[in-house]
Amino acid sequence: MASRKRRGKVIAIDGPAGVGKSTIGTLVAKELGYRFINTGEMYRALTWKALEAGVDTRDAAALTRLANTVSWDFKTNEDGVIIRTVIDGEPVTTQIREERVGMNSSLVAGVPGVRKKLRALQRGLGDEGAIVMEGRDITTVVFPDADLKVYLDASIDERARRRTKQLRASGKKADPVRIKESIVQRDMQDLQRRINPLRQAEDAVVIDSTTLTMQEVAGRILELVRGGGSAGR
Ligand code: DC
Repeated sequence: MASRKRRGKVIAIDGPAGVGKSTIGTLVAKELGYRFINTGEMYRALTWKALEAGVDTRDAAALTRLANTVSWDFKTNEDGVIIRTVIDGEPVTTQIREERVGMNSSLVAGVPGVRKKLRALQRGLGDEGAIVMEGRDITTVVFPDADLKVYLDASIDERARRRTKQLRASGKKADPVRIKESIVQRDMQDLQRRINPLRQAEDAVVIDSTTLTMQEVAGRILELVRGGGSAGR
């Protein structure tokens, strides 16, 4: 896979929903002058497209066809760090956060043909290196040869607390009980999925962020990147 000379490292981060992978990944990428991509956005973009096009999200063959026929583009934000998914010319950053997209995305992410297509796109994006990529199967399936593999974890209560705070800070209503329930549900979907479920790679560095700030976690990852050891190659 890693046949081409990379111009920087590949840093792969996996972990459950709401653990702070994107915030932490962005902090790390900024510090290193790397790009960052949240691969969940790719599954969400295809889900949004399926809903718009009236494709049944339980129809695996139709979803696979859709994944292989839409045009996929990846545009880096003005900050030069965050890579956004553009599907059939549509930058879908806002639409993919809709509840209906989130709910249907686990069906779409369970389709082997969809995963195969997205895995190829993800490998293409990471091939030249200098990238931080986060998701559920980046350390195990997409980049098992990443220079650094991190599994981020945090307790369910802490993840629910952070999510509640984040929603309230953006002026939205948030019911902590419902939020906790939805986190439990998403953990179940991610861990019990038949294809590429979320799991810790044997050689991943596990960081439990329950009692750490996002900056502290990013700092630990940067130490690993710069310090070599298991992080170096
Ligand atoms: O992290 P998220 O909720 O935005 O992810 C959207 C969906 O995609 C969710 O069902 C998990 C799935 N996903 C995946 O299966 N593999 C990835 N590498 C990233 C996300």
